[in-house]
This record gives sequence, structure tokens and C-alpha cells, in this order.
Amino acid sequence: MKLAILKEITPGETRVAAIPQTAAALTKLGLEVLIETGAGDNAFFSDADYQAAGAKVTSDIAELFAADIVAKVTAPIMDKSAGRNELQLLGKGKILIAVLCPAANEKLIAELAAGGVTSFALDQMPRITRAQSMDVLSSMSTIAGYKAVLLAADTMGRMCPMMMTAAGTVKPADALIIGAGVAGLQAIATAKRIGAVVMAVDVRAAVKESVESLGAKFIPMEVDHPAEDSGGYATDLGEQFYKSEQEIIAPHAKRADMIITTALIPNRRAPILITKQMVESMKGGSVIVDLAAGSGGNCSLTEADKKVVHNGVTILGPTNLPASVPYHASQMFARNVATFIKELITEDGRLKIDMENEVITGTMVTHEGKVLAAPPEQAGQESEE
Ligand code: NAI
Repeated sequence: MKLAILKEITPGETRVAAIPQTAAALTKLGLEVLIETGAGDNAFFSDADYQAAGAKVTSDIAELFAADIVAKVTAPIMDKSAGRNELQLLGKGKILIAVLCPAANEKLIAELAAGGVTSFALDQMPRITRAQSMDVLSSMSTIAGYKAVLLAADTMGRMCPMMMTAAGTVKPADALIIGAGVAGLQAIATAKRIGAVVMAVDVRAAVKESVESLGAKFIPMEVDHPAEDSGGYATDLGEQFYKSEQEIIAPHAKRADMIITTALIPNRRAPILITKQMVESMKGGSVIVDLAAGSGGNCSLTEADKKVVHNGVTILGPTNLPASVPYHASQMFARNVATFIKELITEDGRLKIDMENEVITGTMVTHEGKVLAAPPEQAGQESEE
């Protein structure tokens, strides 16, 4: 069994799907690990490090794509202008493991199915305890929440901690975190560490305790129907609700020096929680970092991957903050991938696709020429090669 780790060709992508440590662990499982030359360069893992870990480093594209399993960070690139068409190179019967965003990439998923590729979308990992160690969304959101606060602190025209100096007292910054899921909780922890006074808002009352345990104040929301689905994700609460939520958030936004927005509803446009009018009420020099920029943004003025300055308020909409921390983002991503690959391998190093395994069925999006809309029902089917 061969596993190939490709060099990412998506512009701006610096991460890599295996680090030398995970390559060594996978080699011990009986896999032959092939690393594309320079795959780890942008994340500060050298070809020599991978070789020392027992992997084979090669620039032979045909050899890489002939591997049984191909793992990468981003979805395969179909555009030759990026250097190669990764989709065409993936052959029938191959296994692809990556972040595929199936809801946003219907054409790609249809082509993977048509090409006979068995593909696993790491971003569809079920939110169950056993799968936490494979959950790339959580690990990447942890990084994004941390980095968003540092970005805000670096951009705003004020300092964060309270300081009592001979030149007078500096008041601590006010941070408002909207959405207290994985990214939000990490943003709260980071903002607290650098001395801000932190408030957080979420529609899921269940997170109040976590918010308070990090030393932040929770702003409660009156939600009259379930705000959480069975997977622990927020549900769409409708325009009317978001209007009343904006009113609750408005006075806190007006006071805030930094706002980090992370409100997510899976497979939907992000809800608008900060309007233009709210931005206009904010102090000059304050900053909004909108982590939901990739799904439309939680602020109506957000532009993906752009810096917008409105009335002295800076609005940043970075869509790939993990790529700005490539070493640790790759380390966490690679560990998630390696743990997932173990689910696909028998003790004697053979491929095993166990249709009773929730981790497999939850992430599998194409198999045997078909697009799997939902986890397949044919439980018990097991294919070994
Ligand atoms: P999550 O699902 O763990 O957390 C989202 C939180 O938002 C949940 O607690 C949910 O209840 C809350 N929420 C939903 N609607 C809300 C509303 N109307 N008001 C208040 N809270 C609301 O998601 P996670 O993993 O923390 O990701 C958060 C966001 O960060 C997502 O949009 C994700 O795509 C994005 N992200 C962005 C990155 C970047 O570099 N820009 C990197 C990683 C994640």
C-alpha cells in the first residue's frame, strides 16, 4: 500500500498533509509513504526530514498519483494554470483524502465519482468523541481563533492590557467574540491572555459555562426554538431573529475595540450580525476580524481576503488563517490525517473500507462511481483490497 502526500498548489496554501513524524508513524503501519519534493518547504519541514523519517521523496508526478491513497490539504485543483490538473491525474480506484467542501464543490465531487475515485471529505468528519482526533475543522478553527485575535491586536490603534504607568493608566481593550464554538472559544482564551476584557455571544445556551470558565462574560440570547441540531451545530434561526440579535449586540459592538465574528451555520450563508450602521457606531481605530468571510461574512461590510476601512473601523476578512501558521497548522492537520488513515488500514497493512464505521461513512463522498449524498445505508459491506 502506497500513500502519496502532494505539494499544495492552491495559491496561498502553505500547509502539508503529513509531517515527518506522521510519515514515520504511517510507515510503521506498513504503508510506503511518498512525499512530493518540497511538499513541506512552506511549513518548514525539509525533504531530508521526511527521508530521515523513512519516506521516499520524489518529484515523479506519475509515481505519486499511482499511489493507492493520495492525501492533501485542499480539494484537487482542476485548473491546469495551477501547474497540473490533479483531478485528471487521480485514477480509477484511487483513494483521495482532503478537505473537499462537498456542498460548495458539486462539480468536483461529480467528477471524482465519474473518475471512479473513492474520496473522503475530512471536513465532513462526524462530531463524535471518537472522531475528535481526526477533526480538521476543529484543529484549524483553533488556530484561526487564536490568530484572529493577534491580527486584531496588531491592527487596532490601541493596546490590549491595562497598564498603570508613570504616563497614566491605560484601560484594557474591550473584545467582543460572536459565536463561541471552537474558533470563538480559542479567540476568547487568546484575548484574555493578552489582557482584554472579553464578552461573548452565542445562540447555543450550552456554551455559557465554557465562555465563563475562560473568564469572559456571556451575553444571553432569547431563542424560542432549538438553536442546536443533533450534531451540535447551530441551526438557521431566520432573518427576524437575526434582526433582534443585531439589536442585542449593537451596544456591545459600539463599546468594543476588537470584534471577532465566528457565527457559523453549516452549509448556509453566514448570518449578518454586524450591520453597516453598527460599524458606524464603533470607535475609530477598532477592528473586526470576520472569520466567516469565506461563507459570506458575519459583517455586512466584509470582503473576503480584503481589508476594508469604514469610518476609521478596519474590517478584515481572512479566509485561510491556518495557512499563516503553517508549521503548527500542518502538525495538527497531519495528525488528524494520520489518525484517519489508520481507520482505513488493517493490522497487516491492507486497505479496509468498513461501511459500519461512522468515521468512514460520514466522510465518504464518492465510491464505486457514485456520489454519496448521505452516509451509505448498506451497513456491513466491507471491501478489502
Ligand atoms: P463552530 O460550529 O464550532 O462554532 C460556530 C459558533 O457560532 C457556534 O457555537 C454557533 O452556535 C455560533 N453561532 C451560530 N449562529 C450564531 C448566531 N446567530 N449568533 C451567535 N452565535 C452563533 O464553528 P468553528 O469551527 O468555530 O468555526 C467558526 C467559523 O470560523 C466558521 O465560519 C468557519 O468557517 C470559520 N473558520 C475560518 C477560518 C479562517 O481562516 N477564516 C479558519 C477556520 C474556521
